Amino acid sequence: MCGIIGYTGTQMGEELSEVLMNGLSSLEYRGYDSAGMAIANATVSVYKSEGELSELEQTLPTTLEGIAGIGHTRWSTHGPPSDTNAHPHTSCNGRVAVVHNGIVENYQELRDALEADGHEFESDTDTEVIPHLIEAALERGDKPETAFRRAISRLEGSYAVAAVVSGDEAVYATRHQSPLVLGIGDDSYFLASDVPAFLEYTDNVVYLEDGQFVSITPSGVEITNGQGSLVDMPVETVEWDIEDAGKSGYDHYMLKEINEQPHALRECLRGRPRELDASIEIDELEGLERPERVHFVACGTSYHAALYGARLFREQGIQTNTFLASEYDVDAIPVDEETLVVGVTQSGETADTLGALRAANRIGAETLSVTNVVGCSAARETDYVMYIRAGPEIGVAATKTFASQQVALAMLSRALTGACSSAFIKALRALPDQVQSILDTSQAATVADEYVDADAYFFIGRGYNAPVALEGALKMKEITYKHAEGFPAGELKHGPLALVTERTPVFSMLTGDSNAEKMLGNVREVESRGAPIVAVTDVPAQVATHADHVLEIPNTHRLFAPILANIQLQLVSYWVANQLGRSIDKPRNLAKSVTVE
Ligand code: F6R
Repeated sequence: MCGIIGYTGTQMGEELSEVLMNGLSSLEYRGYDSAGMAIANATVSVYKSEGELSELEQTLPTTLEGIAGIGHTRWSTHGPPSDTNAHPHTSCNGRVAVVHNGIVENYQELRDALEADGHEFESDTDTEVIPHLIEAALERGDKPETAFRRAISRLEGSYAVAAVVSGDEAVYATRHQSPLVLGIGDDSYFLASDVPAFLEYTDNVVYLEDGQFVSITPSGVEITNGQGSLVDMPVETVEWDIEDAGKSGYDHYMLKEINEQPHALRECLRGRPRELDASIEIDELEGLERPERVHFVACGTSYHAALYGARLFREQGIQTNTFLASEYDVDAIPVDEETLVVGVTQSGETADTLGALRAANRIGAETLSVTNVVGCSAARETDYVMYIRAGPEIGVAATKTFASQQVALAMLSRALTGACSSAFIKALRALPDQVQSILDTSQAATVADEYVDADAYFFIGRGYNAPVALEGALKMKEITYKHAEGFPAGELKHGPLALVTERTPVFSMLTGDSNAEKMLGNVREVESRGAPIVAVTDVPAQVATHADHVLEIPNTHRLFAPILANIQLQLVSYWVANQLGRSIDKPRNLAKSVTVE
């Protein structure tokens, strides 16, 4: 998975490269093991480098000439990170340069055929076949646009591709199962994997569809379908501003995004709960009826949100199952037309989740995506889509999107079953302010200070809190690189208790629900083994004697305590990682959207 950008317009030469660099820095969350750009003029100049963008910047000359450019930031799939494997990739004669996000599944076959025709390859990547295919078509006499189409028609797999050709002032691009958006500025045109890449310059966006081709030149834009006929696409105005997409003074995107949660939740709730008749209306789901059964499919943090959502549906008498999307196998799992398959995916581009949703579509199940990204692949490919409206999330570790997913799924469980109450709505509406009060008063930094040197971190919770225990551990391990595990608290005594020592703090979700007594029992089990207890609780007075530290959350509806408890856990992980000097926004080996299976 990678980020791509293309630009042509009034900015030329060094200014053009600055536009590309700015765009790439907003796309770095998609991958950051190497980066590059190509600027087209009478010739195509390519600059690329292994490592982060700062490395690429050092390879750029002080003066540059060119009118159209493309850029790329990479997360390796075929071939390790290196200067050679960095994009753009070029054809033998250097006339064509290409950037690509996705996978060319039939690349080996294409490469063999091209090599047999005398083409010489430099990299290990699947992408490199594309510039060679374009060059082959140019040599047969095709014009650049036709050559681009002809090359694309040979590809199998998923791709967003942008190309430039020497002596031509256009950027040619297309998409198939990988994101690509078009930005329209004043005499300036942008192509990118994601909107923040050009938000600094324009908020007018066209969400391109699979199979569409687009060419941008300084004098305009042309969108065509697979047959070459012109297509008229709506231009939408993005509501995010550049402030939303920048760090706004925080040291890390993750901390900014944690602090954005009150706003994100207000956006998620906007217009959906109705006080008058104590109901939840989700406009975009009009026509979707109460399902017979629900399968949730998701990965990572989104899977934890799905586990939480599934419980809410189950409590309403709906049979539910929650699957890690990579394990969803419609041949082995009974799925039929009465099943609603819900893909929970922040990015809407996660290959495993898309694969599960596609399988469900094939079998005739109704499909719904719960996602954050307008126009993403999941949204396009499911029968229904519910947006969580969290705004752009740049930090690789999901934070505000998890809270928004939880709230969205809570609303969904009520909207589809009609079972709602004034108390539920009142408590939902109170959540943004309650999250704010946690952010204003949290002692998480002090707890992090105390336990930064711990051997490992354990997280336990029961019932609705169990998914949050899993999420607390995932956040801790991905940004601190330290051992962390989450368990439904009752499971501790069946094995994991052997790991507990006085050097392993146990974060215990002790909220005043029906599980409180049993939870206290589990806490006593770890306490008697000498482990420090950090209680995350809405009943501090009742648990203080069992806890070394208390992280308090406001009192709320029993179903929403896990949403609030998770905010405290996010903050602890953040402060531990910060103390350890980790690369918080871009943890090693990870990328924001995982577009490979
Ligand atoms: C962890 C994290 C990942 C994602 C997972 C699914 O902080 O962000 O575990 O939750 O890769 O991503 P989406 O939600 O985009 O499908």
